Amino acid sequence: MNETETVLALATRVAREAGDIQRRRYETELDVQTKSASIDLVTEVDKACEALIVGAIERERPGDAVLAEEGGGHDRADARWRWVVDPLDGTTNYAHGYPRFAVSIGVECEGVRQVGVVYDPLLDECFHATRGGGAFRNGHAIRVSDERDLGQALLATGFAYDVRRAMDDNVENFGRMIKAARAVRRDGSAALDLCYVAAGRFDGFWEFKLSPWDVAAGLLLVEEAGGRCSDAGGAPADPSGRQTVATNGWLHDAMLELIRPGG
Ligand code: IPD
Ligand code: CA
Ligand code: CA
Repeated sequence: MNETETVLALATRVAREAGDIQRRRYETELDVQTKSASIDLVTEVDKACEALIVGAIERERPGDAVLAEEGGGHDRADARWRWVVDPLDGTTNYAHGYPRFAVSIGVECEGVRQVGVVYDPLLDECFHATRGGGAFRNGHAIRVSDERDLGQALLATGFAYDVRRAMDDNVENFGRMIKAARAVRRDGSAALDLCYVAAGRFDGFWEFKLSPWDVAAGLLLVEEAGGRCSDAGGAPADPSGRQTVATNGWLHDAMLELIRPGG
């Protein structure tokens, strides 16, 4: 096994183990707290999943850095590998018993996206990609769609937790896109939205003010599935998640024409 394969194996194992926790605790009574806004939630399951994932990385790869959403990660100044972990992407869905959420783990080597794993525990779908190695769902290669007409496209987007107070709230983009595309979904898990672009289920996705852990795995999935990822101006995908446009490539420019960072 080369190092990428070792990292992929560990990422897959811990994503599945965290997914098992999510499946077991789904629709049970949860301790739910708020973070940056009253609509920004965190549950005990987010924290338990993060502890499991970060604990396993620390044990098996103590030299690696970890950035994890709930703060359980650790920097390592001289680390070659950095794990970017969203222990539960889709917490609002999870807290409401809406069956769409996932574990997302992206791993960079010397700052370059190298491995991505997204696990949906309810559908038992494990998406993974390695740089140059392609993108897969449960071991089968996936590709972006071939749709070239925005009017026939199924798109997805999302809204940041500051939507109630921010002027740049993505609402006007949504209005423009819903009139241009066949349909636009807002399904509450950016990591899965990106995987669905990679798998050809969605033809395109855009969102603003995401975080590195939302996109670390999904961007690699889309790239490796033959799609295109960029910021809102068409420059290479922004690993911060601040501006994310991911498409099958064919629809990219048409989407960029309608999307404005200001809303
Ligand atoms: C959120 C989801 C959602 C997106 C939000 C994210 P979380 O992640 O990915 O789809 O619209 O911007 O923060 O908080 O459930 O991990
Ligand atoms: Ca997230
Ligand atoms: Ca999360």
